[in-house]
Amino acid sequence: MSFSIVCGGGFGDEGKGKLLSYLALADNPSIVARAGVGTNAGHTIQFEGKEYRLRMIPSGFVNPNVRLLIGAGVLVDPDVLFRELKDTQTIDRFGVDYQSGIIEKKHIEIDSTNAHLKDKIGSTGSGTGPANMDRVLRKLKIARDIPMLEPYLTDVSVEINDCLDEGKSVIAEGSQAIFLSLFHGSYPYVTSKDVSSSAICSDLGVGPTRVSEVIVVMKSFLTRVGTGDLPGELSKEETEKRGWVEYGAVTGRLRRAAPFNYELAKKAVRLNGATQIALTKLDILYPDIAKVNDIDALKGETLEFIDRIEKETKVKISIIGTGPSAEDIIDLREHL
Ligand code: IMP
Ligand code: MG
Repeated sequence: MSFSIVCGGGFGDEGKGKLLSYLALADNPSIVARAGVGTNAGHTIQFEGKEYRLRMIPSGFVNPNVRLLIGAGVLVDPDVLFRELKDTQTIDRFGVDYQSGIIEKKHIEIDSTNAHLKDKIGSTGSGTGPANMDRVLRKLKIARDIPMLEPYLTDVSVEINDCLDEGKSVIAEGSQAIFLSLFHGSYPYVTSKDVSSSAICSDLGVGPTRVSEVIVVMKSFLTRVGTGDLPGELSKEETEKRGWVEYGAVTGRLRRAAPFNYELAKKAVRLNGATQIALTKLDILYPDIAKVNDIDALKGETLEFIDRIEKETKVKISIIGTGPSAEDIIDLREHL
């Protein structure tokens, strides 16, 4: 039995989608359940020569044995959901909690025109903030109010807890990241709820005593979309020079970039109770390890970087990303 939480250790876009697709294939869990805010997150997965940018369907879809769930704490946009169900052909193994909130056109309208949200906060315009506002006012529609969702309704908490009782494995897919948390992030430049590992438990209806591993995903450099402080932020020219240019999966905005920050990493570890760190995009810093799977490739400066992260955070790096595809991974878990 294991219940592993995967969550973001930066400002989002750490490569959670890619890591989750690897874990779904390597560990063959019974369920991958999506937590987090909603369609404001885009998880990028490269699989069998195709790129997916998923805002609703859990990244674990790459393994056909995995049941795919969306938790009660997550906001669902039915248009986005049905498009992705079609794209990923996963309708026969998908379930959404009765109580997941529903994003309507009016929420998207407010999110993409309201000056405070759009310009000051730099929201993704996906309607999540205004929908969570209605949820707090207790007037938001939930999944059980939508006839089109009827065939897929389920109690995600019951499904996950039953699965764990039967000795099977479940992976919780967090979205956004700790420094975008409404409570622990760089307020007010944050998303519309907490997104820590504790919030992920709550999104899915699983108690903290059932958690086996908390895998905090950190990218080898920091990026941030939207507004708000980014410690050590580089100029656009320097970002280009270093080859760190990225664009947002949901909005297409250029991501601002900065070097890895050890203080933030320590904080991310504590706020989430990390038991492991997954370090992604190490091949961008050290191109000699691109697409490598072999642990022996970790030497010299690469190894020094890893050692320093482990020393400063006091948490082991268990998985390293060496490229965009699910198989571009160095899995160190059996060496821990
Ligand atoms: P909102 O969540 O759309 O309201 O946006 C609030 C802030 O969080 C903005 O700066 C967004 O760019 C950022 N944000 C929200 N979700 C994500 C994500 O999944 N990745 C990166 N940034 C995000
Ligand atoms: Mg993203």
